Amino acid sequence: MKNIYITTPIYYCNDKPHIGHAYTTILADVISKYHNLLGNNVHFLTGVDEHGQKIEETAKRNKISPKEQCDLTAIKFQDLWGKLDINYSDFIRTTEKRHTSVVEKILLDLYTNGDIYKAEYNGLYCIPCESFFTHKDLKENKCLYCNREVEEIRETNYFFRLSKYQDWLINHIQNNEKFILPKTKRNETLGFLNKPLNDLCISRPKQRVSWGIELPFDSNYVTYVWFDALINYISAIKIYSDSTFFNTNWPAKCHIIGKDILIPHTVYWPIILKALDLKQPTTILVHGWWLLNDNKVSKSVGNIINPIDYIQKYFSDAFRYFLLKEMKLGNDCNFSNESFDKCYNTDLANTFGNLVNRVIKLALKNCNGELHIPLITFKEDIELYKAIDDALINIEKNINNYNIDLIITDILNILYVSNKYIDILQPWKLAKNNKIEELNTVLYNTAHALYIVSILLSPLLPIKTKELQKSLGISSNLTIKDLHSKLEYIKIIDIPILFPKIIA
Ligand code: MSP
Repeated sequence: MKNIYITTPIYYCNDKPHIGHAYTTILADVISKYHNLLGNNVHFLTGVDEHGQKIEETAKRNKISPKEQCDLTAIKFQDLWGKLDINYSDFIRTTEKRHTSVVEKILLDLYTNGDIYKAEYNGLYCIPCESFFTHKDLKENKCLYCNREVEEIRETNYFFRLSKYQDWLINHIQNNEKFILPKTKRNETLGFLNKPLNDLCISRPKQRVSWGIELPFDSNYVTYVWFDALINYISAIKIYSDSTFFNTNWPAKCHIIGKDILIPHTVYWPIILKALDLKQPTTILVHGWWLLNDNKVSKSVGNIINPIDYIQKYFSDAFRYFLLKEMKLGNDCNFSNESFDKCYNTDLANTFGNLVNRVIKLALKNCNGELHIPLITFKEDIELYKAIDDALINIEKNINNYNIDLIITDILNILYVSNKYIDILQPWKLAKNNKIEELNTVLYNTAHALYIVSILLSPLLPIKTKELQKSLGISSNLTIKDLHSKLEYIKIIDIPILFPKIIA
């Protein structure tokens, strides 16, 4: 059993969660649940990013304190994760003492060893991104990330020596193929590292931003929110608190992030870890954006898709499945109600739900729901068991390579072949002609396929697959290893329709 540590970004506490946040967290949850199925011991961390100018300004607008703003928003995230059946192991808030004390200790160590220094700076500042830029970083004088006007600022600040570690980082990325996935994002980072790195400004003067962790060596400043936020990945597992530099969960197996936060995670974070002499995460997995009519869904654009609407209209499993099926990892994807309905009706109602219905109804009507290991075989069994074997052979590799799309393809193939198997062998005719053993073979084999699918799909559809497992009388605590042997006997009980069709 391996220890697997998986993280999401920590979400800004300035507004309620939307589809983009939901996608990142569902993806992390699905990957965690697949590792559970492999028998691994998963620690899954999510949380909220509570400091910085954005939150200070939102709180001011809402006429509450920044801490109250964070308390109210953190609950909204936790509430949504509950409704989406996300099973995180820990939820970190960056105002917690367990986090702030680690940030302070790290700052002090880096200041003492000379990796943090003070200097005067003249730069262009983007408030929404809370970042400094130079002219070469801008697009028509606007921020490259959010496309808004930047402000010219001259002030004395503290800087972290990113540049000192640039060559080391390039080597690390080049020598570790899986360090940044997918490859396109690895290349993007290497492209960014083609230019000399500027040192990172890690402080903000209190007269400009006061909502942050005070620098332990200069009380006139607070810590730059990104420097503070990245450290959550180790503060949550107590690395660097009380001089602990080791934890069985570190290094993280996978930090999951969206493409807009690539550079902080693939440049700043590895260098912070290197400067602290800590191990690097195995993979930084980068996904694209959910778009609405080709525009990024975002709080600031105001084109929010609220996951709660979809959970209420359909149910959490359908939303989880749609998001992971529709978006190819690394690419952007347009959201539409039409594509949601199409995906739901085609895969869940017509393919999966239909097979479940057929097997349950036929077994209850003709065999009292009781099926045993077949005594006779059909030539069609070969294709059905090949589809099952393929899925079982491929799954470990696909989980380790984050190929959720290939996992879904293999599972859908089992369902297609099973439906075809029933169409060809026509169990209703076998029942009519009293071919009891033949009928048992068809229904046992398709029930066996459903048994396999109910486990392999459980990370994506945790609730509906549990209902199916109840109908098949099997435990929901199985791992992939258990699926290589057959059930001696299956006793089916009736359940309500799993996926009622959506009528537009
Ligand atoms: N607080 C920082 C992260 C710090 S991690 C140490 C932050 N927060 S965020 O709330 O703005 O965004 C968090 C995540 O949501 C990012 O991974 C981002 O890519 C993702 N998404 C926000 N909008 C998105 C879409 N429209 N589509 C997909 N994901 C996007 O950044």
